[in-house]
Amino acid sequence: MLKLAVFVSGRGSNLRAILDAIESGYLKAEVKAVFSDKAECGAIDLARSKGIPTCSLSSVNKDGYCLYEELPAILRASEAELLVLAGFLKKIPDEVCDCFENRIINIHPALLPSFGGKGMYGMNVHRAVFESSAKVTGATVHFVDKIYDNGKIIAQSMVDISDAASPEEIAKRVLETEHKLLPYVIKMISEDRVKLVDGRVMLIKE
Ligand code: GRF
Repeated sequence: MLKLAVFVSGRGSNLRAILDAIESGYLKAEVKAVFSDKAECGAIDLARSKGIPTCSLSSVNKDGYCLYEELPAILRASEAELLVLAGFLKKIPDEVCDCFENRIINIHPALLPSFGGKGMYGMNVHRAVFESSAKVTGATVHFVDKIYDNGKIIAQSMVDISDAASPEEIAKRVLETEHKLLPYVIKMISEDRVKLVDGRVMLIKE
């Protein structure tokens, strides 16, 4: 049973997709803890409602928050094996990247390496995609390194947006595919079917 720590900042629909995949038996994993840069958000509410321990993170001392520098020790105590960034807007500290090399994944709502990097999150991404007149977009799950949206790509799913009328419509279509892609990648990792071969990430299909 793969032990997960999930990092969130918002409404938590990707966290819900992971929890649903676990509950349905599709994914053999357990969410040991949910971390956020916020004290309150939809994703934190969801974690609490499922009895999952939550932790809010801050870079300065604040009531009810843990410091980012405490994160490595907290993660060790949680026994997390894979860190999943599911809509987490802050940067993961370099020390955590070192401790969890190739064990941190992020979902990005576009086809990287396009439309990524600092400031490219949420609706900013979908607006940029819409304004570019791109005909396809999608979702990317990638390993996290010390640079925003830079790590090796594990899996992508493509969405046709040739007839999309607004960034909001693109966001809706992409989110639907995110909810399938993220549980799928976690499942592949839990089954040891994600391999690094000559610097490329390969998925071992059945
Ligand atoms: C998703 O679109 C994810 O790709 C992006 O932030 C959004 C989070 O949505 N990084 P939710 O909080 O999982 O509903």
